[in-house]
Amino acid sequence: MQVINDIVSVRARLNIWRQQGARLAFVPTMGNLHEGHLSLVEQAHHHGDKVVVSIFVNPMQFGKGEDLSAYPRTMTEDRHILGRAGVDILFIPSEDEIYPGGVELATQIEVPGLSDILCGASRPGHFTGVATVVCKLFNVIQPDVALFGEKDYQQLLVIQRMVRDLCLPVEVIGIPTVREASGLALSSRNGYLTPQERETAAWLYRCLCDTRERILACETDYAAIGTQMSNKLREQGLLPEYFEVRRVSDLLPAMPQDDKLIVLVAAQLGRARLIDNLKINRGGESPS
Ligand code: PAF
Repeated sequence: MQVINDIVSVRARLNIWRQQGARLAFVPTMGNLHEGHLSLVEQAHHHGDKVVVSIFVNPMQFGKGEDLSAYPRTMTEDRHILGRAGVDILFIPSEDEIYPGGVELATQIEVPGLSDILCGASRPGHFTGVATVVCKLFNVIQPDVALFGEKDYQQLLVIQRMVRDLCLPVEVIGIPTVREASGLALSSRNGYLTPQERETAAWLYRCLCDTRERILACETDYAAIGTQMSNKLREQGLLPEYFEVRRVSDLLPAMPQDDKLIVLVAAQLGRARLIDNLKINRGGESPS
């Protein structure tokens, strides 16, 4: 695995492969890698001849008072993990490389509508930060395909919409969430949880599964389900921010006639803000 820190060198290396006809698969990350990231890398090998991973903790997507400085950084371990996973290039740019004029004055990519709801409502500017850095990374790497985890489902839709709206020549693929045996979705922020909180956090997935059962049993009062599930989470010691049933295609509120749904939750537990989701297909069997 070649580790590259600057844009000129990574472009030069990738141009050679591109001229040889290689298909480039790209996995952007913020490091602190876990099995969820490894499943993205594994899928990247299926979708491309060469696999590029980036590690960049993007300051633009953290709000004031969020965990930018505390965000777990485990670069040495990450490099070993990616080397063992057969990654061809690891791109680790500095903040100056990505934001040469500073973060505050950088040109921004805004994806209106989708960026302002659910997580965007409590994290103003977050998805603008995500869209901006992913657009920059796409311009640097110019991948044929890029892979993102479905755990961050809203992020995935924001990126797919940006790619569509800006006519970027990259296929964006969502990869199913990897879970612990308890159902807890893998996330770098799980590292903030105490062992007791980790058990409590499994209630998120339990509530998502209960919701799926109720909807598949033809309940359609989604607002009532959301309120009841939020109460259940509160009883367990979580602080729910939202628990919502939405349309899987655009995250607009689900109507009784919609078949392809997704239930999404965000909740605070101790130091960690946790998110998770589950797709529900009322027209057929339910994908996870
Ligand atoms: O999901 C993440 O790790 C980040 O939001 C991403 C996509 C790497 C952009 O910084």
